[in-house]
Parts: sequence; structure tokens; C-alpha cells
Amino acid sequence: MRHLIDPMDLSVEEIDKLLDLADDIIANKEKYSKVCEGKKLATLFFEPSTRTRLSFEAAMMELGGNVLGFSSADSSSSTKGESVGDTVKVVSCYADIIAMRHPKEGAPFLASLKSDVPIINAGDGGHNHPTQTLTDLLTIRREKGRFSNITIGFCGDLKFGRTVHSLIKALSRYENIHFVMISPEELEIPEYLKEEVFEKKGLSYEQVRTIDEVIERLDILYMTRVQKERFFNEADYIRLKDTYILDMPKLKNAKADLSILHPLPRVNEIAVEVDDDPRACYFRQALNGKYVRMALIMTLLGLEA
Ligand code: CP
Repeated sequence: MRHLIDPMDLSVEEIDKLLDLADDIIANKEKYSKVCEGKKLATLFFEPSTRTRLSFEAAMMELGGNVLGFSSADSSSSTKGESVGDTVKVVSCYADIIAMRHPKEGAPFLASLKSDVPIINAGDGGHNHPTQTLTDLLTIRREKGRFSNITIGFCGDLKFGRTVHSLIKALSRYENIHFVMISPEELEIPEYLKEEVFEKKGLSYEQVRTIDEVIERLDILYMTRVQKERFFNEADYIRLKDTYILDMPKLKNAKADLSILHPLPRVNEIAVEVDDDPRACYFRQALNGKYVRMALIMTLLGLEA
């Protein structure tokens, strides 16, 4: 039985196979419409979500399976004091596979120790979000046709942004990527990632404070939201929330084939006017999330079309 807790749980070869499967699903949807007949996915979301939960549910439905679950901790027995381990042990009796989001780092890993069915980490605190990473990788491959030989800028909340942490780890295994980290000092990437990924692996990276000083060099710009829910102090959030706003004037010197990604939701960090620019990939990215989750469900359940 396989779980997906950390993006590094999958080898480069396994990621290639998953993305190939997602591409095939996109091209041949009907072929996959009954693959999960008789199977159930449980979505246990102890933290809010639109894309991840609904794309998991849509993915299972489009594979012919069924879904059950809860969308907030308030509507589960965790409010009565039930542990994550007990919740998962019980839900394992009702479902064939579980996608779990939890505000506490490591909760899906603890769940995987107790579960009798595959657990998918659908985001744990500021730690990891491996299925967003698969979504991002599918989007980069479909938009750029490669992972190697790129300059990628990560902009915004690089401290708490789990999608950033997971994608950096996943991309660290490809050749000749230059990482540009754009953030205020308070929201810089955590030291453990600098030491254990950038420095240990000898990767090329730089830290800057503005989009303007790097935009013309970027092949991909990965924007992120400053996350109110991760701040202990509201004054700090208010001070930092609008540090970066990507608008059309900011894109004046960008490459014609720049790909703008964002895991969404966005607040102010990308002006709505950018949505109509062909370089804005974030809504295509959200759609890719459904297809890559279909591929992941099939893979973890050992099913083929
Ligand atoms: N990208 C992402 O995880 O979005 P949700 O929080 O809406 O699931």
C-alpha cells in the first residue's frame, strides 16, 4: 500500500508516469470513466479548501467512483476530541482511499501510520502540498515542455507557503534550474530548505526583494498569496499582504513566453487584468489539478483503464 505524504515519496520516474497518465486522461476522458466503479474516496478536510477538495471529488466522480467526507473540522468528531489516528482508522472502514488536509504539519503522516487504505496529503499546515506539486509539474510540462534549463521565480509568502516548499523539493531533482526567491525579509524561505535543498544539492539560487529586478530573466513566475491564516499577529499580515501586486505594467519587460502560475486562491497579488494575458496559466493549472488527481487515485489504487 502506498501513501503520498511528501512530494519526494515519488521518484522522478513515477512522476513522469503519473504525468503521462494525466495527459492520456485529458486526451481520452471516456476511456477512464468507469475505472473506479465501486470505489470510494473520503475527503477529510480539517481546513478550508475549494480547489483541492472539489478537484479530488470531481476526479473520483469522473473515474466512475463515489465520494464521502467532511469539509471542516467543525462537522467532524474531532470537535469531541477524537484523534486523527482514530478518525482515519474508522474512515478506512468506509472508503478505499483518503485525501486529508490538516492545519498541523505532519498530521497526514500520522494518519498514514494508522490507516488501512492509502492516505494522500492534501496540504498540512505550512509544510507540504504534494498534489499541488503534481498539478504544478503537469502545468509546467504542458506549458513549457520541460523541467530542465529554466529560471523560475517564486514570489510572496515563501516562509509559510507549502506549495512553494513542495515544488522546490520536486524541482530540485532536475538539471540546470535557477531559483529566484522574491519575498520580503520576514517571508523568506525557511532555513531548512535553504540548507537541505539549495545548499546541500548545490542548486543555483538567489534571494531578491522585487519582481522588477528579475522579471525579464524569468521563464516561470510562481505567485503566492500572503496567507492570513498562518500569521500570529494581524498587524504583520496587514503590513505585508500587498507587498507584491503583479499587474500589466509589471509584465512590460517579461518574456513573451513567460508562464505565470499561482496555486490559488489569490487575493490582490495578481491584478484581474492579467487573467486575459495568454501568459496567465493559473486557471489552466487549476483544471490540470483534477486530471493529475485522477491519475494519482488510479495509481495508488493500482487500477488501469
Ligand atoms: N491550491 C489550493 O490548495 O487551493 P485550495 O486551498 O482552494 O484547495
